[in-house]
Amino acid sequence: MKRTEIGVALLGFGNVGSGTYRALEENFALIEKKVGAKVVIKKILVRRLDAARRIDVPAELLTTNFEEILKDPKIDIVAELMGGINPATGFIKAALTAGKHVVTANKAALALSLPEFNKTAAFHHAMLRYEASVCGAIPVIGCISRALTGNRITSVKGIVNGTTNYILTRMAAEGASYEDVLKDAQALGFAEADPTGDVEGYDAANKLSVLIAAAFGVYRAPDSFERVGITGVTMDDLAAAESEGKVIKLLACAEEKDGQIEAYVKPVTVEKDSFLGRCGSEFNAVQIDCNMAGPIFLQGKGAGPEPTGSAVMGDIIEIAQAIVNGTEHAQPVTALM
Ligand SMILES: NC(=O)c1ccc[n+]([C@@H]2O[C@H](COP(=O)([O-])OP(=O)(O)OC[C@H]3O[C@@H](n4cnc5c(N)ncnc54)[C@H](OP(=O)(O)O)[C@@H]3O)[C@@H](O)[C@H]2O)c1
Repeated sequence: MKRTEIGVALLGFGNVGSGTYRALEENFALIEKKVGAKVVIKKILVRRLDAARRIDVPAELLTTNFEEILKDPKIDIVAELMGGINPATGFIKAALTAGKHVVTANKAALALSLPEFNKTAAFHHAMLRYEASVCGAIPVIGCISRALTGNRITSVKGIVNGTTNYILTRMAAEGASYEDVLKDAQALGFAEADPTGDVEGYDAANKLSVLIAAAFGVYRAPDSFERVGITGVTMDDLAAAESEGKVIKLLACAEEKDGQIEAYVKPVTVEKDSFLGRCGSEFNAVQIDCNMAGPIFLQGKGAGPEPTGSAVMGDIIEIAQAIVNGTEHAQPVTALM
């Protein structure tokens, strides 16, 4: 019997959870037309029922009980938008094991457990999608995994962390110190109270691990390649780059050389007038080099509730369409070889 409704649960209702809710609410009728069924949020898992929210939602949607979501047969898709390793990793595995399809924005959990998630999804005939985990709104995983799948990818390099790009851009433009710009970035919501994950390159390394799996079909743990953050970049370094018509960017880069993947996250000097050199402020940009299509350049918003919610909704809609068409047991988006 043709499905008329697809049920979704959101795990987390912070920035990305609320952005996803908004993307679905705003485009509800359009999404219904595209899917051929209503896509309906049935439950939202949070830590605190009484917390202030960016968006008001009916109180009966909120729960603190993950089991309620797991056992609800009306929930087809679980979107994990909580972040962190635990309990997110366990929730993703439990949802897949229960035969629910999973969408996640959680690069930290993916970078640690992608092979295991893929195996669990395959064993339980569930779909796993994670476009939002790398570069927010920019469709880089879909571009690599679908549109460019007929290519041998030779390198992927990009600016994948908006916080550090914002800091480096302002330091270079204003001659301002790292400490002053970081304080401003925190006040404006571009940097977290504890910025370590961003400024030391851990976030970019997690995203690079996910990108490597998509581009080269191999799993590389984020601690298996070089990772240097931006805390050592000085105003003198930026001025020296400027004097040569260059800028310093925190690049995440993976390249195939003689069958090996060479990868790193580190500050790199690039031509000011190059694609990556021109990507300023909190924007993200990725360049993909491949043997048939030639270079591909993607740029856009790498974070923020609605841009990231847009990527989450793209994955939810793809799965919802597959459910409606009866093709939902398809391949993982990133098949590891
Ligand atoms: N922010 C972005 O722009 C962005 C972009 C791309 C990817 N991501 C990824 O998206 C994920 C979410 O990020 P975010 O910025 O939306 O985080 P956030 O604003 O801190 O929101 C986290 C949400 O998860 C809930 N939560 C956390 N731990 C929980 C637990 N143990 N049980 C139940 N609920 C729990 C919180 O509940 P309470 O509200 O009750 O505390 C909150 O609603 C992360 O993996 C992040 O890396 C974020």
